[in-house]
Amino acid sequence: MAGVTDRPYRKLCRRLGAGYVVSEMAASNPRVWASEKTARRLDHQGEEAPIVVQIAGGDVNLMAEAARYNIQRGAAIIDINMGCPAKKVCQLQAGSALLSDELLVARMISAVVAAARDEGDVPVTLKFRTGPTRVLRNATRIAAIAEAEGIAMLTLHGRTRADQFNGEAEYETIARVKAAARIPVVANGDIDCPEKAARVLAHTGADAVMIGRAALGRPWLFRQIATYLETGVVGPLPTIGEVRELLLEHLQEHYRFYGEWIGVRSARKHIGWYVHDLPQGAAFRARMNQLEDCRSQAEAVDQFFARLGDPSLPLPVGDIKEQLAA
Ligand SMILES: Cc1cc2nc3c(=O)[nH]c(=O)nc-3n(C[C@H](O)[C@H](O)[C@H](O)COP(=O)(O)O)c2cc1C
Repeated sequence: MAGVTDRPYRKLCRRLGAGYVVSEMAASNPRVWASEKTARRLDHQGEEAPIVVQIAGGDVNLMAEAARYNIQRGAAIIDINMGCPAKKVCQLQAGSALLSDELLVARMISAVVAAARDEGDVPVTLKFRTGPTRVLRNATRIAAIAEAEGIAMLTLHGRTRADQFNGEAEYETIARVKAAARIPVVANGDIDCPEKAARVLAHTGADAVMIGRAALGRPWLFRQIATYLETGVVGPLPTIGEVRELLLEHLQEHYRFYGEWIGVRSARKHIGWYVHDLPQGAAFRARMNQLEDCRSQAEAVDQFFARLGDPSLPLPVGDIKEQLAA
């Protein structure tokens, strides 16, 4: 997720049970590669293999070039973005806008796959949506084209471009794509707990699930899902003390990665997600957003968790919801 799944967060998710993580999308336009922001996005130092880099763009040659560039810098898998519905991406005929032009989809995949083959047989995967609109759901055709052009794995978000992030993801189209595909299919969209992961896997027959928004501020969700899929038992939430420790660790790595100025500001959204469902979380977020240096931000987080209660107790998320419902 652009602006979210940076290197510190990806490493944390891997440590806490994610089997596979993908970089934020990187623009295929070479003019931005040297920018600080893109260079940071393409920094994978210390990450566990495989390094998966997602590229986004609308120009076939630039996309092939971007694949080469990233492989030469350590990418072991290239993922093509045909899912992003954002205006600034779709205006460039990139992201989910590509789904309206199946010939261009074929040409782009073919060029990226050929470039990646040249660079040492690196696999190319595709992330896409179910189609441009609900009446033009062409995911099964896009999947067939992708497979024929050499894509190694498909990840399908159960919404159309027109849906943006509205409504609910549907899984019928994912099931249809999976039934026809001979390559692995990953189901994505609105999966937010272990039981739903199991239901989506059963309904679609998909080979895996991909989790986005539900893991914001909850990186332990991956382990909970993996444990549930293995044992059928939903494990307990982490304790207050465990979450305090891992958030403080996350922050230190975040500050090292971004430096003081960007670090303190970009950490606010992560902290906001961690405390979102916790008692006094909203008030804390408002206060914390005014702190301007890393040290006072980390100290404030430390104190917030100290006030939450006995560090050996589970995170009080469930309790609060029950109290509100009572
Ligand atoms: C802030 C944000 C940034 C995203 N950036 C990307 C991206 O760079 N590449 C991509 O393939 N999908 C991106 N997505 C889409 C997610 O990967 C995912 O397909 C979508 O959120 C649905 O899954 P979820 O319900 O589990 O979040 C982004 C989503 C959000 C909310």
